[in-house]
Amino acid sequence: MAGVSGCIKYSMFIFNFLFWLCGILILAVAIWVRLSKDGQEILSPGDSGTSPYIAVNILIAVGSIIMILGFLGCCGAVRESRCMLLLFFIGLLLILLLQVAAGILGATFKSESERILNETLHENIKLLSAADENAKAFQKALTEFQNEFKCCGLVNGAADWGNNFQENYKSCECSSLSDSCVMYDGKNVYKQPCISLIKEVVAKHILIVIGIAFGLAVIEILGLVFSMVLYCQIGNK
Ligand SMILES: *[C@@H]1O[C@H](CO)[C@@H](O)[C@H](O)[C@H]1NC(C)=O
Repeated sequence: MAGVSGCIKYSMFIFNFLFWLCGILILAVAIWVRLSKDGQEILSPGDSGTSPYIAVNILIAVGSIIMILGFLGCCGAVRESRCMLLLFFIGLLLILLLQVAAGILGATFKSESERILNETLHENIKLLSAADENAKAFQKALTEFQNEFKCCGLVNGAADWGNNFQENYKSCECSSLSDSCVMYDGKNVYKQPCISLIKEVVAKHILIVIGIAFGLAVIEILGLVFSMVLYCQIGNK
């Protein structure tokens, strides 16, 4: 057999070098956000929620994994190290399998997740007329959504806001006198409730995530094939 194909070796090197850099970049930004005061303000202006940290911690984990795999692939290719290439292959295969498993789970429980989303949204109607911290946060989020998507209330329109309507009607306010507006409590507001729009937005985001996952899977399969070919060629040298 001929020796190691330069083309595969150097593509492995270049791509994994880029991945390694991306990993370092992600890791650096995530750690910066996690540690710095400015970063903390970006994540939770005012009150200190804990949930934004979950996202940052996930980023730190993802960045580390990309960095390690990139390093293994890149060094494994240049030094023609079978051990590193094998570790790279196994790591990538595990990620691909996890991704496939998540996809299968997601597809299996699709109707279940839709039901949960629907129920959560119906539950949240209560929050619109409440006054605690949790409710305030949800109200703020819905207000922004109403502004952007020209809807009002969750399920039953403006009435969902209950006693809080007068305080929050601004984002519901309909400037024209068209069919899409309705009078409620002395204000001209959007007739359409937000629930179907929220569901659409969620569905669109899920579609984006699925698209990214498929794109990643293609790259991962390429990485698996390249590292395996290189591994075999080194063995045959
Ligand atoms: C959403 O949930 C509500 C209340 O739980 C129910 O009445 C409604 O039929 C559900 N809608 C869909 C589309 O599942």
